Amino acid sequence: MYRTHTCGELRIENNGQAVTLGGWVQRVRELGGMTFVDLRDRYGITQLVFNMDTDAELCEQANKLGREFVIQATGTVNERSNKNPKMPTGDVEIIVNNLKVLNKAKTPPFTIESDTDGGDDLRMRYRYLDLRRPNVQQNILLRHKAARAAREYLYNNSFLEIETPFLIKSTPEGARDFVVPSRMNEGQFYALPQSPQTFKQLLMVSGYDKYFQIVRCFRDEDLRADRQPEFTQIDCEMSFVEQEDILNMFEGLLRHVVDSILGYDLGKVERMQYDTAMRLYGIDKPDIRFGMTFTELNDVAQNKGFKIFDSAELVVGICAEGCASYTRKQLDELTNWVKRPQIGAKGLVYVKCNEDGSFKSSVDKFYGQDDLKAWAEKAGAKAGDLLLVLSGDTAKVRKQMGELRLEMGKRLGLRKADEFKALWVLDFPLLEWDEDGNRWNPCHHPFTRPKADWETIENWGDIKADAYDLVLNGNEIAGGSIRIHERDLQEKMFELLGMDKEESEHKFGFLMSAFEYGAPPHGGIAFGFDRLCAILGGQESIRDFIAFPKNNSGRDTMLDAPSPIDDEQYEELHIQAVEKVAEV
Ligand code: AMO
Repeated sequence: MYRTHTCGELRIENNGQAVTLGGWVQRVRELGGMTFVDLRDRYGITQLVFNMDTDAELCEQANKLGREFVIQATGTVNERSNKNPKMPTGDVEIIVNNLKVLNKAKTPPFTIESDTDGGDDLRMRYRYLDLRRPNVQQNILLRHKAARAAREYLYNNSFLEIETPFLIKSTPEGARDFVVPSRMNEGQFYALPQSPQTFKQLLMVSGYDKYFQIVRCFRDEDLRADRQPEFTQIDCEMSFVEQEDILNMFEGLLRHVVDSILGYDLGKVERMQYDTAMRLYGIDKPDIRFGMTFTELNDVAQNKGFKIFDSAELVVGICAEGCASYTRKQLDELTNWVKRPQIGAKGLVYVKCNEDGSFKSSVDKFYGQDDLKAWAEKAGAKAGDLLLVLSGDTAKVRKQMGELRLEMGKRLGLRKADEFKALWVLDFPLLEWDEDGNRWNPCHHPFTRPKADWETIENWGDIKADAYDLVLNGNEIAGGSIRIHERDLQEKMFELLGMDKEESEHKFGFLMSAFEYGAPPHGGIAFGFDRLCAILGGQESIRDFIAFPKNNSGRDTMLDAPSPIDDEQYEELHIQAVEKVAEV
């Protein structure tokens, strides 16, 4: 037997027992004739003790151990005279009588501790070492627990877990496809799924009325902290349901996962229309842990001679409570912050609501005390508050103000790490006009049902989608919709998206054909599983919640992928190597 216990297991109750442990050497300390070795595995750390007086040979063997050596140690559990209350195993140590080096290790390129000296690149190149660090292990463990809790909930609600293929034809979710050349079909390619969308709909046609899958999706898009080219969804679909059924079922899933992982009661999941979210928060995924909602000030701020406001489509303000005491320096810094290219505002107007009831603004030249009072009243600002105002084109200024609101929320400590608030955003527009392509694009995807009697629709641009997003602390963690299940409506949708009959038949004939053989009404949702885990783990980047992630250029630096393939492989696949193409 390699080991009788793990390195996180032994307690004072085990005192006197003969045990064998296996693990990695975290640290070796020599102290006046004694050697202490911290032995680590994923369960914890146990202290091994060697005594020069009782067994010099063994002690010398221990002194030669290097960091990350894999060893097996047999000995007796002993109550420590010098207990360490910070470690669960801190009451005991093992007095070793037999030590075996199972494998030596080179000195690792960075310290294998939560607080490491390794930079991002190095950690990615040696990801298998990075994964040994306790904080990364915590994240991987959290992910495991979240998957388990999700499965538990879905199994208990009669969902069937069904796998769908990876080598498929494009499933559009708005990104580029990763493609795979087919050796057996010259000049032809599979696409990797951006999501299992069409398959889960087909499963509904087949009668598997509650489906789920924790599944990898592939999207060739620009990467950010919350995006990876391959990521995982908890993908779900149900038949004979309306929006309300879906919202109830899946807020239940979120509640169960949050409770299982954090012991946190999520409480009621609020609901908000997309239009309201845009008007009050400037974004379709508002962080509702704090207020600071927008107030539109056009009627009180325009036509007073201030050209910038007069010519703006929207003048909008937020009230930062208790910030009237901001200094000139702080206000200048905030103005520079909104003027950064990432935010792109031209300037920032402020109104200080002084404690004595007077107002001081950056536009005093144009506005008297009564004007500023009207702004403050409209925005619900009290004495001691600071009003921050931006103006311009509605879409742009909402986005800028949305960023400023989040920044102020952060600066004022209103985005608390230990608070979780979920929100359903409903009634998204069905379509958005694409100026460049001169056609409509779906806001969700082309299988989403319009929230209207489609046969009587005159202006498709005004129609809402029967779609919903689930937002947690300002992050979109899930999205879905009630689907189209009739051939003629699906055909109409493709036509609106600029596809002619031939193209839609070629791309989605299989789905439309299935709709002709008894497709039930259905709808579903997919959770971004990596994102959900990162948020529950209190982090913004999803990378450390994925065992083997890609870097920001989509590379796996450990494997050095992507990389060229052998000449024979190019030939077998009937494609020309890039250099050969370049020569032509
Ligand atoms: P959607 O495209 O909204 O919907 O994706 C669902 C959720 O997946 C997460 N997500 C990502 N996570 C990490 N990296 C990415 N590149 C990435 N892209 C998306 C987000 C998002 O909310 N088939 C539909 C679902 C449906 O209609 O049922 C779909 O894929 O958290």
